[in-house]
Amino acid sequence: MRQVIIDCDPGHDDALALMTALANTDELRVLAVTTIGGNQTLAKVTANARHILGLLGSDVPLASGQDRPLVKPLRCAPEAHGDSGMDGPALSGYDHPLASDNAVTFMHDLIMDADGPVTIVALGPLTNVALLLRTFPEVKDRIEMISLMGGGIDHGNSTPLAEFNIYVDPEAAHIVFASGLPIVMAGLDVTERAQITLDEIDGLHGRGPISEVAYELLRFYSESGHQFGFVDSPIHDLCAVEYLLDPSLFHGERRHVDVVTDEGAARGLTFVDARPKPALPDNALVLTDVDREGFVARLVDALAVLDAR
Ligand code: BDR
Ligand code: CA
Repeated sequence: MRQVIIDCDPGHDDALALMTALANTDELRVLAVTTIGGNQTLAKVTANARHILGLLGSDVPLASGQDRPLVKPLRCAPEAHGDSGMDGPALSGYDHPLASDNAVTFMHDLIMDADGPVTIVALGPLTNVALLLRTFPEVKDRIEMISLMGGGIDHGNSTPLAEFNIYVDPEAAHIVFASGLPIVMAGLDVTERAQITLDEIDGLHGRGPISEVAYELLRFYSESGHQFGFVDSPIHDLCAVEYLLDPSLFHGERRHVDVVTDEGAARGLTFVDARPKPALPDNALVLTDVDREGFVARLVDALAVLDAR
């Protein structure tokens, strides 16, 4: 059983990733969920995490983290996720206690006390994770890997070159990629292939209470995706969870990855050493393809498990 901490900024795709992780109790033991300002302000994404965990009746502890990137002001994504950061379903009736408002020390204590290695699943800007690694380097020996959604080999979504999670805090992302820890990078190369079709979304309607919330999340998210040129809806963050559940769904290549922190057009770009004979040592498994149908089936099955609880 893999022990994980999920650092996130819910976020429609974060919410679906949380649901899927919490449904798969045979494979994943979720030690904590932590939040990071990203898709919306820290207050809003933390409220969304409280609502999702409350909806699921989860007893997983929740800690809120940093409200801004290491260097720059926070830049949210209301165009993708709405004013609440998770527009669509009405979840305000659910609440879940906040165990801590210091995600960095909370993660540190959990990792040091855990009875085995811990995997970090990072679904938002990497500020909390970078601070954890820099403040408490002793945790590195106890972190098995970091499975993150972020970056892209040949294009971005916040800018032509930079993906949102990396663009929001490139300095933090640089710290994480340079940490020496094993990294699985689910960037846009794979996550934009991890799409759910409108028919598949409609298939969730009327199946059960959690599937219904997923349906409402995906209705909003797929519609907001139209402005970015998508017909079907990529579920970016879910890739970082599903890789842990079933790596055989994915194809990837080991590469050296680093992050541009300079000002200018390339800020937030993740660049890889893709030369036929790379000169830089690989530090990440960069996912490049996914079995789309298997990916969606995993989500649908996870929601059915949650519906039956
Ligand atoms: C990433 O940005 C956020 O809007 C999503 O939640 C995902 O983590 C995709 O670029
Ligand atoms: Ca996210």
